[in-house]
Amino acid sequence: MSPAQTSAIDVAAGPKFIIVIQQKGGAGKSTITVNLAAVIGRSSIMQNDIEDAAVVAAGVDPQGSLESWADRVPEEALPFDYLVTRGEVGVLSKFKGDPARKRVLVDTPGFMEIDPDTAWGEDPLGGSRVADALREVLDLADLAIVPITPEWLSWAPAEFTIERILKPRGIPFLVVINLHDPRDGDTALDAVKTWIDERGYPRMADPIRKYKIHAHAAENGLTVVEYKESGTALRAREDFMNLALCVEQAL
Ligand SMILES: Nc1ncnc2c1ncn2[C@@H]1O[C@H](COP(=O)(O)OP(=O)(O)O)[C@@H](O)[C@H]1O
Ligand SMILES: [Mg+2]
Repeated sequence: MSPAQTSAIDVAAGPKFIIVIQQKGGAGKSTITVNLAAVIGRSSIMQNDIEDAAVVAAGVDPQGSLESWADRVPEEALPFDYLVTRGEVGVLSKFKGDPARKRVLVDTPGFMEIDPDTAWGEDPLGGSRVADALREVLDLADLAIVPITPEWLSWAPAEFTIERILKPRGIPFLVVINLHDPRDGDTALDAVKTWIDERGYPRMADPIRKYKIHAHAAENGLTVVEYKESGTALRAREDFMNLALCVEQAL
């Protein structure tokens, strides 16, 4: 880029920002961020002259849960770069317009504790450090993934996230059903699908299934592209490949 052009950031040449957001913890934000980054990173176009990975996974989680996971993955098995901002504002904005990066995936903390009683139309995120970090990420977002589970406890927080945080900012979103246990049959799955569809929310057609290997992945420093080969590992990977295709269509 010539010096004359560097004055304005070329946003079109830079990465798309995909944020994973849901008010409630435990619906799978961190699991989705890491595994989606792994799948998209693994299927990225390689260019010898570029050092930086095309995919960046970032966590604004003050607890750095993404970092403790990614730190355990052997360097050569990690098809993406990662960083943890620990709530520091301004770190993620630096990727804007960076032509070496194609996708930045951002894991966010839950924000159940943030003022649920603000009046309609007001920003319910409040004034905490986490809220400032969330606002920066929301300003950058090209797409939001909202995980939800067949368990109804996650439904109202998903609705709150969409209606109070995403829609007022005009951020496109995709609802993703996670933690569907294939052994449970389809009753609970159909119920959550109906609930989503009644609200007219775009959703990924199929759920991400619940497998024990996912639950142990963090402690073992694994992502879905590295699971020891088995039928379950293939199905687990299929779910995240499916999500990657769905996300790329939505961008
Ligand atoms: N599809 C899945 N199958 C099995 N366990 C899962 C799955 N998704 C998430 N988990 C587990 O559920 C817990 C919560 O997931 P996590 O990604 O940490 O949620 P969040 O970041 O939204 O709080 C973690 O222990 C994680 O390993
Ligand atoms: Mg998390």
